[in-house]
Amino acid sequence: MSEENVSLLPPKHIAIIMDGNGRWAEKRGLPKNAGHAAGAETFRKIANYCRTLGVKYLTVYAFSTENWKRSQDEISGIMLLMERYLREVLRDMDKNRVRICVFGDLTRIKPKLRKLCEEAQEKSAGYDDVQVNFCLNYGGRDEIIRAVKAYCAAVQAGREDVSELTEEKFANYLDSGGVPDPELIIRPSGEMRLSNFLTWQSVYSEFVYMDVLWPDFSPSDLDAAIAEYHRRNRRFGGR
Ligand code: IPE
Ligand code: IPE
Ligand code: MG
Repeated sequence: MSEENVSLLPPKHIAIIMDGNGRWAEKRGLPKNAGHAAGAETFRKIANYCRTLGVKYLTVYAFSTENWKRSQDEISGIMLLMERYLREVLRDMDKNRVRICVFGDLTRIKPKLRKLCEEAQEKSAGYDDVQVNFCLNYGGRDEIIRAVKAYCAAVQAGREDVSELTEEKFANYLDSGGVPDPELIIRPSGEMRLSNFLTWQSVYSEFVYMDVLWPDFSPSDLDAAIAEYHRRNRRFGGR
């Protein structure tokens, strides 16, 4: 970390759009899945680094509700990497003590991977030092629609009263229920858009877009993003 920021606390919640795997592979004449494999390695490295810095929540965009438009081969490759990572998480759970949460609609995910997601979430539910949220078949709008449906079901069952609905209450129906909004959202790869990421949660997040491809993203890039975050003047609509 640069000297200027060494005394500043990192954001409590950082979210990352892990983008640029395809271009990274293309530049090297490799198949797309080689880019995703390299991206998965970067994720491991950055998750560890976040933990060293004392970041409490890390949310990563792994597969969007729009990513089904890709080839079957690419989709299977991404799902396989996810499976591999979750097996690793389950194996090393007692050592790492990281809470794993999966955001997204898992009904479309194959049973084997879905079971791993559920197992990792259940078994790590007691760890509360660090939490990693994986966004898998995740779309911000889809998340809101699923939350509306769950809320309406609660109203019909007499557990909720519409006249008492507040933003805070509604947020509990989102996949991110109980997790504070991210202060910082980072997108590598040079693209400057959210691509359906954290639609509800990002209203006051600071965005940092970076020109590095995700597989090349390093701890010093994260330092730079955090330093940029600390230079921002967050007003939340006030003076
Ligand atoms: C991000 O990398 C990973 C996923 C969307 C699953 P991309 O595969 O989108 O990489 P680019 O944007 O083509 O470089
Ligand atoms: C966003 O990246 C989704 C993930 C990183 C998982 P995309 O590559 O799918 O987004 P677009 O197509 O550039 O908007
Ligand atoms: Mg992309």
